[in-house]
Amino acid sequence: MPENYENILVEKTSAIAVLTINRADKLNALNSGVHREGVAALAELAVDETVRVLVIKGAGEKAFVAGADISEFAAATAAEQRDVMLSRSLFTVLDSFPKPVIAMINGFCLGGGNELAMACDLRICSDKSRFAQPEINLGIICGGGGTQRLTRLIGETRAMQLILTGEMIDAATALDYGLVNAVHAPEELEARTMELANKIAEKAPIALRYSKEAVKLASRSNLDEGLRREIDLFALCFATEDKREGVAAFLEKRKPEFKGR
Ligand code: COA
Repeated sequence: MPENYENILVEKTSAIAVLTINRADKLNALNSGVHREGVAALAELAVDETVRVLVIKGAGEKAFVAGADISEFAAATAAEQRDVMLSRSLFTVLDSFPKPVIAMINGFCLGGGNELAMACDLRICSDKSRFAQPEINLGIICGGGGTQRLTRLIGETRAMQLILTGEMIDAATALDYGLVNAVHAPEELEARTMELANKIAEKAPIALRYSKEAVKLASRSNLDEGLRREIDLFALCFATEDKREGVAAFLEKRKPEFKGR
C-alpha cells in the first residue's frame, strides 16, 4: 500500500482496513485528489486477501464529507466533469467493490458525502451528524448517484423533498428514513463501528461478496431475474471450501474458520 497519499490515509488492523478522507480543514470535501487516490487504494484493497471489510470515514470531529470540492467546480468543463464521474470516481468504484464497506459518519454528510455514504453497504453515524443533498443551492443536481440511490433507499416522497429543497436532516430523521443503519453517541461511534466490522469480517468472504451482489440486484433487476441470479450465486457457494467448513463446523458444534476459498 503506497504511503505517499496526500488526501487520504489507509490503515489496516487485522482484517479491517480503514480509509480516511484526510482534508479536515476543508471538511473532507471530495476533490479530484481524493477520487484519484481513493480509486487507487480501493484497487489494492480489493485484491488484498488479508482485508475482509472496509470502513470509510472523514478526518476530524466535524464532518464525514461536506460534499464535492466546490472550488474545483469553478473551472471544470462539462466534458471533464462527465469523464470524472463516469470512470474515475469513488462512487463508481465503490459500487462494484467486492467486500463489505461501512461508512462511519461523524458530522456533516452532504452532497457528494452523502452519495459516497450511499455507495457504501452500511452507514453508521453519530447523533451529531447532518445529512443533505444541497446541490440545488449551487444551481446543479446530484451527480454521484444521489437521485438514484437516495430514492431507492428512502423512497421518492422523501428523496424529492431533500433534493428539491437541499435541506438538512438530523441523525434521528436519517435513521427514521432508513438512510442509516444505526446512530451512536460520538464517543461510541468508532468502537461500535469496529464491532460491526469485526462481526462481518468473521463471515465467509466469498459468501459476503455474493450476498452484496445479490442484494444490489434487488433494485437493479426485475424479480424473476433477481431470483434466478440469487440461485446461481447460492449454487456457486457450493463450490467453495468455506461452504464445506461452515457446514462441517455447524455439525461438529464449533466455530467455523473461513479462508475465503
Ligand atoms: N467544498 C470546498 N470547500 C468546502 C466545502 C466544499 N463542499 N465545504 C466546506 N468547505 C471548506 C470551507 O470553504 C472552509 O474553508 P476555508 O476555511 O478555507 O474558508 C472550510 O471548509 C470550513 O467550512 P466552513 O464553511 O467555514 O464551516 P461552517 O461550520 O461554517 O459550515 C457547512 C459548514 C458544511 C454548513 C458549510 O461548509 C457548507 O455549506 N459547505 C458546503 C456544503 C455543500 O454545499 N456541499 C455540496 C457540494 S455539491
